[in-house]
Formats: sequence, C-alpha cells, structure tokens
Amino acid sequence: MAHSLPPLDYPYNALEPYISGEIMTLHHTKHHQTYVNGLNAAESAYASAASPKQHIALQAALKFNGGGHINHSLFWKNLTPSPEKGGNGGVLKDGALKKAIDSTFGSVDNLKKEFNATTAAIQGSGWGWLGVNPSSKRLEIVTTANQDPLLTHVPIIGVDIWEHAFYLQYKNVKADYLTAIWSVINFDEAEKRFAEATA
Ligand SMILES: [Fe+2]
Repeated sequence: MAHSLPPLDYPYNALEPYISGEIMTLHHTKHHQTYVNGLNAAESAYASAASPKQHIALQAALKFNGGGHINHSLFWKNLTPSPEKGGNGGVLKDGALKKAIDSTFGSVDNLKKEFNATTAAIQGSGWGWLGVNPSSKRLEIVTTANQDPLLTHVPIIGVDIWEHAFYLQYKNVKADYLTAIWSVINFDEAEKRFAEATA
C-alpha cells in the first residue's frame, strides 16, 4: 500500500500570523510530499530487493523518509488556528493534561520555557517533543535528530525544528518561532494523545 500526503484540517494561511501561509504551503506540498515519495520508493525497492545486503542498504532511506512522513503527519495534527482565526490554538483547558503539566513542570509557562530551551539547543535539524515516558507514564521533554521518529516516548506535542519550518518568516531567530508556535498548538489533540498514552 503506497503512502499518501494527508490533507490538512485547516487552510494553509489559517495559522497566520504565527506561521505564514507560504511556509505551510511549501512545507506540506513540497517537503512532506518528498518524504512520502521517498518512503514509497524505499519500500518498493525493499520489496523487490533480493539479498540481505540490499535490504540493509535501504535502511537509512526507510528511516529518513518514514520518519519524515510519521513526524509531519503528527505535526499537522498538533497545530490548529488560534482563537482570532476561529480556532482553539494555544488554549489548554482544565483536564488531565493540564494537571500533569502543572505537577511535572510547575506551570504551562514553565513547560514552554523548558521545551523551548531544550529544543533551541538541537544542533542542526531535528524535532522537539513533549512525550509520555511509557514506563513512568510521566511527561518528559525530549529531542530527536534529523527525521528520527520518537520511539522512546509516546508523542504528545512535536515541533519541527528544521529550518524549512521557520526560515522564510523567522530567518535565523529560532527562539521567535518557538515562542510563536505555542499560539497555534492544538492542545485538544495533545489531550487526546495524553489520554491514550496514560490509559
Ligand atoms: Fe518539516
């Protein structure tokens, strides 16, 4: 079964002014599409490869493109328009997730501060995550390099820290992108993932 680009739940310009329509359009139709194409090509090559050596040679392409597809599919879902655009972006309601954030980080503002500091420190391209540790069921901030998917934790919120995610709007100022993105984080989706992860 070939993979395909999942549609967004909102228009490309719906996350403005926090993430520009130009970034969203290119990010979804070009960057994510390229991972989808790469994953399909790697899987089809893997299926017709005849030897262990040929299979092993395809591992890097599977991981990179498969991770890119998984990560971006999660990312679009964990964004949503802000209240001024008619959405619920950035709004964390009272509930189990807020309770866990308060008890782990002290407050939502502290979570944002810690998340942004850890994520801004990624060298090169990667992803910042708020995840649930499956053994302790506790929230933790973790990062992955390149397009490595998050395997050690259940992803609750993921932020793309590749330059293609912010450079057209924020240039080199990664910190401003990280500050802005919290206004379009879909905490309802995060709450749903948190409930599944801690069930
Ligand atoms: Fe990306």
